[in-house]
Amino acid sequence: MLSNETRAIIKSTVPVLEEHGTAITTVFYKNMFEAHPELLNIFNHANQKQGRQQAALANTVYAAAVHIDNLEAILPAVVQIANKHVSLGIKPEHYPIVGEYLLKAIKEVLGEAATDDIINAWAEAYGVIADAFIGVEQDMYEKMENQTNGWKFFKNFTVARKEKESENIISFYLTPADGSNVPAYEPGQYISVRLTIPGEEYLFNRQYSLSQAAQPDEFRISVKSERDNDPNGRVSVYLHDEVNVGDVIEVSAPAGEFVLDATKESPVAFVSGGVGITPMMSMFETVATMTPERPTTFLHAARNESFHAFDKDIRKYVEKMDNAKYKTLYSDQPEGFITREVLAEMVDVTGEVYVCGPVPFMESMITELRALGMTDEQIHFEFFGPAVALQ
Ligand code: HEM
Repeated sequence: MLSNETRAIIKSTVPVLEEHGTAITTVFYKNMFEAHPELLNIFNHANQKQGRQQAALANTVYAAAVHIDNLEAILPAVVQIANKHVSLGIKPEHYPIVGEYLLKAIKEVLGEAATDDIINAWAEAYGVIADAFIGVEQDMYEKMENQTNGWKFFKNFTVARKEKESENIISFYLTPADGSNVPAYEPGQYISVRLTIPGEEYLFNRQYSLSQAAQPDEFRISVKSERDNDPNGRVSVYLHDEVNVGDVIEVSAPAGEFVLDATKESPVAFVSGGVGITPMMSMFETVATMTPERPTTFLHAARNESFHAFDKDIRKYVEKMDNAKYKTLYSDQPEGFITREVLAEMVDVTGEVYVCGPVPFMESMITELRALGMTDEQIHFEFFGPAVALQ
C-alpha cells in the first residue's frame, strides 16, 4: 500500500507526465534500446517507427497509477495487455528494465521539476503495477504450460499447407515440428509468430488470430499481405513470398480474451471488415459444428469479390445450419457498406455480437449497434494493433 503522500504526488503529477507524454516515451525507448538492444527482438519495430506502442505502454502506467489502490478496477485492461505480453514471452526480469528507463526518461524530460520525492513516488508506484502484471502473467504461463500439449514461450512449427484465400490473404496450416498435437484453444484467440528474416538484425514478432475452430493437430492463421503499408508489412509480405511448405517458424501458445462464449444458446452475430474476418471464422466454425441450431448471422464487408476470403467455407456451413444468415457487402459497389439498416435487418439485437476489423469500421459498427439498442455487455470487440489507453 502506498502512503497518502506518495499517492498525492502520483495524482498531481499524472497530468504533467501526460503533457510531456511523447517526449518521455521517445526518450524512454531510445535509451532503453541503446542499453538493451536485445529487447528489439521482442518489440514490434514497425510500431516503434510509428510511435504507437510508445504511447500505449507509458499511458497505461500513468492510468494504472491513478488506480493504484484499487488495481482490481482496471483488471480487465491488465488481463488484455498481459495476454499480449505472454504471447510475446515477456518475463519478470524485463520489468525492472522498463521501470529503470521510464523513470530516467521522466527525470530527463522534466529536469529540475522532477524532484527526488516525485521520482521515488513513481518508482514505488511502478513497482506495484509491475508486480500486478507479473502476477497475472505468471498465472497465465502456468496455465499454458500445464494444458495438454501446452508450452510457454516459443515452439517450432512446420508449415504443413499454404492456401490462397483471396487476392491478399493466405492461410498457413501449422503443425508442431516435434510431431505432437496442439492444445485446445478458445475461438477468437491468437498466437504470436516469431521470424528470423534474412538481412534483418532482430527477430520479428506478430500476432495472428487462429482462423479455424480448434483442431487436435494443427493451427491455421490467415495472413493479409500489407504490401502498401511498409514497415508494418515486413512480416506479412515475407510470410506470403518467402515462407513455404516444410519451413519451420516459431509460434507461441494461444492467448487472448476476445473469445466466443460457446456455451450460450442466444442469437449470435459476427460482423467483420476485411481481414478482421479471421477470428470470426474460428468462432463461426465453432458454432456451426457445436451448436448448429443457434441463430447465427455472418455479416462481412470486403472491398470486392477478389478480396473476399472464405466465401465458400461460410456458405457450406450456413447450408447445414438450422438458422443461419450470411451477407457480404462490397465497398467498391454503391451502397456497399454495413449501415444501421443492414445491421437492423441482419442482427438479432437480443443476442450477442462480435465485431472485428479496421478501427474506423469497428467504431462505426459499435456506434450503430448501440443506436439499435444493444448494450456494451452484448457487444464484443477487439482492436487490432496496440490497445487504446486505459480510461
Ligand atoms: C504491449 C503496457 C511492461 C513489452 C503493451 C501494451 C500496453 C503495455 C498497453 C499494448 C497492448 C496491446 O497491444 O493490446 C505495459 C505496462 C507495463 C509493460 C503498463 C509495465 C507495468 C512491459 C515489459 C515489456 C513489454 C517489461 C518487455 C520488455 C511489450 C511488447 C508489447 C507490449 C513487446 C507489444 C507491442 C509492441 O511490440 O510494440 N504493453 N507494458 N511491456 N508490451 Fe508492455
